[in-house]
Amino acid sequence: QIDPKDEVFVGSIDQGTTSSRFLIFDKNGEPVAVHQEEFSQIYPNPGWHEHDPEEIVKSVENCIEGAIKQFEKDGHSRESIKSIGITNQRETTVCWDNKTGQALYNAIVWTDTRAAALARELKGRPNSDKTDVCGLPISTYPSVTKLIWMLRNVDKVKQAYEAGNLAFGTIDAWLIYKLNGVAEKNVFVSDPTNASRTMFMDIRTLKYSDEMLDFFSFEFDMRKIHMPEIVRSADPESFGKLSSGPLKGWPIMGCLGDQSAALVGQKGFDPGSAKNTYGTGCFLLYNVGEKPVISKHGLLATVAYNFDGKPVYALEGSIAVAGSGVKFLMHNLGFEQQSHKISELAETVKDNGGLVFVTAFSGLFAPYWIDDAHGTMFGITHHTERGHIARATLEAVCFQTKAILDAMEKDSGHKLTELKVDGGMSNSALCMQTQADLVGIPIIRPKMRETTALGAAIAAGFASGVWKTFDELKEVNTAGQTTFEPKMQEKESARMFQRWEKAVKMSKGWVA
Ligand code: G3P
Repeated sequence: QIDPKDEVFVGSIDQGTTSSRFLIFDKNGEPVAVHQEEFSQIYPNPGWHEHDPEEIVKSVENCIEGAIKQFEKDGHSRESIKSIGITNQRETTVCWDNKTGQALYNAIVWTDTRAAALARELKGRPNSDKTDVCGLPISTYPSVTKLIWMLRNVDKVKQAYEAGNLAFGTIDAWLIYKLNGVAEKNVFVSDPTNASRTMFMDIRTLKYSDEMLDFFSFEFDMRKIHMPEIVRSADPESFGKLSSGPLKGWPIMGCLGDQSAALVGQKGFDPGSAKNTYGTGCFLLYNVGEKPVISKHGLLATVAYNFDGKPVYALEGSIAVAGSGVKFLMHNLGFEQQSHKISELAETVKDNGGLVFVTAFSGLFAPYWIDDAHGTMFGITHHTERGHIARATLEAVCFQTKAILDAMEKDSGHKLTELKVDGGMSNSALCMQTQADLVGIPIIRPKMRETTALGAAIAAGFASGVWKTFDELKEVNTAGQTTFEPKMQEKESARMFQRWEKAVKMSKGWVA
């Protein structure tokens, strides 16, 4: 047994779209224990995607238990864990009864497009472009459209609303509320990186915006709904404590939406630094400093983090389908059993063989924002093999990343000189080389790719004094990175990209 006085650790709950994890990091930012659990993906109708909110909480509790078992088996003591951070899938919306703490419906996941007609209706209302206030355009993606859909269509949600008991929150708020235990004094908070994804928050004041609340109150009074208090992303007081399990009594001190957490985990603290996370979706965040930049080219303005009351902002390019495209090949089309095999399959062909796959399963997000785009494959011939389809699936993410970088350059007036990457699909060397070829700048992949979880640990570690300055984190996760240099002729990558853009145009307007 190692003396806990000699060791310092931070725990990190990483609640993602397809799995939950709990990781324990040491002071050097190395994960020393990890436990992961997948949970049900519910697709009741085309375009619908739900999670069971109770199952999510259970999966997190199981992960904490599993990781602590491993941690203690390795001779560490739970007493040396100073605090816990939370990072989570963003926008996914939970409605619950604030008297009982019971969820009233499944969580509607960020990828869900059932509110497409509602989004069109909202866009048609006077003065509907509120990007300058909240940073996001109206679409099926932010939480608000999911919330209004529930108010219109789910009796239990409507009844709770009428009784004044309706609580609404993103996954961070739900988890913090539940992990604290539903008691007399509920802990009902969210941080700005999450709250900014609802469309209710003023991106500058980091408070709920009257203008946004008024705009969305045309049918249901949004002020009648209980919404979490917005607090800082690193906060020793506001997030409460775990109420059960092996870490009962341990304080939660950090909270960041997963994409902001990845930027923090990649130590993207300086304006101009950027990261691209290839998870279920793919999200490029570019640090723009202490003032938000409102995009004119289809990007989002979002909060990168707010550790000390001085928020730092990012421009964001969001891609709805990345790893979920790979999963689609595996689960829906029966291609291979493991994701790394999809990359190997893609390597069996020398190029895409003329195939372009617009993986618009949730419409297309940034920079296009086409709600009615559908997944479409162009260029199928007798020559087309499974390898081409695998390759075109990986390429689809790389093309969208290129479109996002072009938009970012226009918005910021700067060209990126390198791009840091992480997330499951970044394991594919083929995918990362393609990315470098298409964007024409080096792609840098760290050895330790648990950057999202590390980001939440950093937030909690700042609040609990494990780290005090960004400088102390300089050396964290720098050894052993891989750089992918662009190799393709510019003319060839431009030709490929042109074909992609044409395919995007042709993927709209299909009515199934
Ligand atoms: O905005 C959705 C995002 O937070 C989900 O991230 O890692 O599941 O693709 P991920």
